[in-house]
Amino acid sequence: MGISDIAKYMMEHPSSIREIMELVAEYEKHPEKFPRPLVYLAGGWPQDPPPRVLREKLREVLEDDDAWRRAARYSPTIGFPDLIELIPEYERHVFGRNVSSEKIVFGLGSTEQTAAIFRLLLNPGDEIILTRPGYLNYVRQLELELSLRAKIRYWPIIEGSEFRPSIDALNNMLTSRTKAVLITSPGNPDGQVWDDTLLRGIHDLAEDHGFYVIIDAAYRAFIFEGDKTPFQRKPLEREIWICSFSKEFRAPGWRASYVVIPEELRRPLNTIEQARTLAPVSLIQLMLIRLFSDREALASVRRHYEEGARRYAELAEETVRELLSIENIGVLPPKGGFYVFFNISAFSEDDKKVWRELIDKKQLALAPGSDFNGARGWIRLSFAPVVETPEVLREGIKRLKEFFAEIKAHQ
Ligand SMILES: Cc1ncc(COP(=O)(O)O)c(C=O)c1O
Repeated sequence: MGISDIAKYMMEHPSSIREIMELVAEYEKHPEKFPRPLVYLAGGWPQDPPPRVLREKLREVLEDDDAWRRAARYSPTIGFPDLIELIPEYERHVFGRNVSSEKIVFGLGSTEQTAAIFRLLLNPGDEIILTRPGYLNYVRQLELELSLRAKIRYWPIIEGSEFRPSIDALNNMLTSRTKAVLITSPGNPDGQVWDDTLLRGIHDLAEDHGFYVIIDAAYRAFIFEGDKTPFQRKPLEREIWICSFSKEFRAPGWRASYVVIPEELRRPLNTIEQARTLAPVSLIQLMLIRLFSDREALASVRRHYEEGARRYAELAEETVRELLSIENIGVLPPKGGFYVFFNISAFSEDDKKVWRELIDKKQLALAPGSDFNGARGWIRLSFAPVVETPEVLREGIKRLKEFFAEIKAHQ
């Protein structure tokens, strides 16, 4: 095949999420081949519907002739100017944060915007620090964007079964080629919320060493406990905030996001995106313009988020309680997001093997820790797919308990 070396590399190193998706497709196509239905607690796609008010706003766009025509045209690469002016309203009335519109770039989902930021900041041979564990797609994106020539270093943020990022340890990892530190808060797969002392500690280093702090806030609307200050205060000088609508709107299929970026980076990012995307989706932008100009609508979005966070917190709590009842399992109680990350190293360090066995023997799909920047001996359970059907979560946990009880019986 006449494909590039990097394409070959990507094919030879698939992520296990793709494997799981293929398996799910197989279960759906041929349920008769399997002893019982698959319990799917692997993906991070919320199944509850988007806030109702979004549908009303979209309907308004469809029914207004001018808006309908505008929705069919290209927008500027960084988004319609009236949307950019209104995003601070969303920030203010939903999250309580003051953000200047001068720092905002709208885009086609955070996956695309993150990749563009990698292109914006990194030369071949430059270093970026990711956390261990960390969201699995960043590494693949870096490999692709820089044809394997970015140096990735991993900052361990868990000690034993506790969240303990050390600023000293981070400081020791920095070199003259460190261009960025990327953290996810609340975390995927770990569900941890980074408090402001930690973020300011990283930012102090960024100021001294001249790197940027990228914060992926995809799960900011799902914080159950912990310090919300970082999501409410003004972004610091060297911070880049990546704000995706995918999770907070429960609409990952719409591909909409924005970044809050230091002003000096806005024009270069615009130039890169002119070549990569040309423009984000106009129809969604027009819906957002209507939504963000309506205070009452914003208040209802805020209530939707608060209610959702309570529901997700209950499921997280129940999952943690149940997992802790399994002897020798370590659990990292989440403070936000959709995931519960648990440690199985008392049974095996080989989380991929355990993950595969859970699928084969118990028809339970989770996600192996190794895929999240090499968190060996850990497994991630996602309750996002079952927020509307908690009985499926309970069935999954029952199978998990049986699995470990059987291992124990054979030891
Ligand atoms: C931490 C994190 N960032 C980004 C994404 C992808 O977001 P988007 O749909 O905006 O590309 C995900 C998806 O699971 C995620 O977990």
